[in-house]
Amino acid sequence: MTTMMDTIAPTFAQTGMDPLFETLMSCVSDGILVTDEDGGILCLNNAFRELLDGSGPGAADEAAALRRLGLDRFLAMAGRATCPATATAAHPHGSPLERFIRVKERVRSGGATRDMEFLCGTIGLPDGGRSLKVVISQDRGRDGGLPIQPDPDGPGFITNDREMVSILSRLEQIAQSTAPVLLMGESGTGKTQIARMIHAYGPRAHKPLVELNCAAIPEQLLESELFGHVKGAFTGATQNRKGRFQAANGGVLLLDEIGEFPLHLQAKLLRAIQDQRFEPVGSDETVEVDVRVISATNQNLRNMVNDGRFRADLFYRIAVVPMKIPPLRERVGDIPLLLKHFCTNLQARGYPDDVTCTPEAMRMMMDYPWPGNVREMLNAVEHAYICAIDKAVLPESLPQDIRHFAMGARFKGMRPLTRFAHAHPVQAQGGEDADIRRALELAGGNKSEAAKALGIDRTTLWRRMRKLGMTV
Ligand SMILES: Nc1ncnc2c1ncn2[C@@H]1O[C@H](COP(=O)(O)OP(=O)(O)OP(=O)(O)O)[C@@H](O)[C@H]1O
Ligand SMILES: [Mg+2]
Repeated sequence: MTTMMDTIAPTFAQTGMDPLFETLMSCVSDGILVTDEDGGILCLNNAFRELLDGSGPGAADEAAALRRLGLDRFLAMAGRATCPATATAAHPHGSPLERFIRVKERVRSGGATRDMEFLCGTIGLPDGGRSLKVVISQDRGRDGGLPIQPDPDGPGFITNDREMVSILSRLEQIAQSTAPVLLMGESGTGKTQIARMIHAYGPRAHKPLVELNCAAIPEQLLESELFGHVKGAFTGATQNRKGRFQAANGGVLLLDEIGEFPLHLQAKLLRAIQDQRFEPVGSDETVEVDVRVISATNQNLRNMVNDGRFRADLFYRIAVVPMKIPPLRERVGDIPLLLKHFCTNLQARGYPDDVTCTPEAMRMMMDYPWPGNVREMLNAVEHAYICAIDKAVLPESLPQDIRHFAMGARFKGMRPLTRFAHAHPVQAQGGEDADIRRALELAGGNKSEAAKALGIDRTTLWRRMRKLGMTV
């Protein structure tokens, strides 16, 4: 490949700027690709090369990698946004980037899916006549070190459930206000995901989303963690420190597991949410903030209020917009949708795309009550992929909890195998054989598990299997 300097000299070579230019290019975290007017690659920096390197075999050929990732169309777009040389030199009409076309794109590279934004445009060179096409890639997933946000243009939250759809239909409207939101639901139902969507859809999207799990911080540290402290406020407070409320200033503070928030601090939290003012620990000075608070809990806060474990005034303040997320077992229609979604996600992360699921395994997943809700399903799907046999998800590929549940359901109401065989030694023969086979299948061949489900011990199972002529 011709180097950039060979081609866009004399502009830089004459001025002696090329080493500096090259150094700067290699330092920036955004990817930069520069081509000539015909799309011939002149240079690309490390960040852009890293994107192309993940495109698979042959990535050394940058033009081919560009095509493979479908990024070559951005060069065509670049040709449609031209900035004259005068604009690039002195910025009299603002930054040339303002004229660039911006495109959001989800790129699969290096086994990962990255949410990127591409800026494409053509910049005229001061030597007249010639121009360069420039594509800049910005990784939105890593922007500002914030957690990856759900794509506001994408599905974000997968559901077909009537109740959930009605909650989601109000989400954009809710996101526009600053009213406190209380998300209620069992663990793993998607409360944090919804909180992130409210942040991403609202005017505070470009301000921080700060998350604090109230249960994860020791009670004696929580006040300082949330409101900050001044030097000397307590042993170990060697300097002033801002708390999460200030870190979230202008943005959103997510208070997870709010039900665990200590009673003696609740009045201070109420004032901070209501008046947007508080005093850091050890300080007399009042700090003012502008923070939208979203709380989440898997506890019944109303019962806690009735029992005197949660202040009623705080409850009503944080629950101006209450949202109840139903557990997955109450929206079984979402199970196949989510399964499909998670399979697609895994494939985007580099898992094979030709793994199938047997009807039996599918039925077990449909029947399972998913006590860990969507999070449990996410993990179960990955487990199933890893344990698939010959690219097929079989019952034994599923996590133990699902297999145990299926076994429990299968043998529910059945007399233990020992008594069954005793009472009806002759007729039982056929049924016993089938039950043992079934138990073994559901247990993924694990004899201890199968024996437990059949209500007999492992040795008895082994003896029965031998007697029935089954392979042991
Ligand atoms: N409807 C959905 N569509 C896509 N992904 C989902 C959905 N619901 C939940 N998830 C994913 O499931 C996982 C668990 O969701 P989340 O962390 O939001 O649950 P939670 O209710 O906050 O749980 P906890 O109470 O334990 O904090 C996350 O990875 C989330 O992205
Ligand atoms: Mg959560």
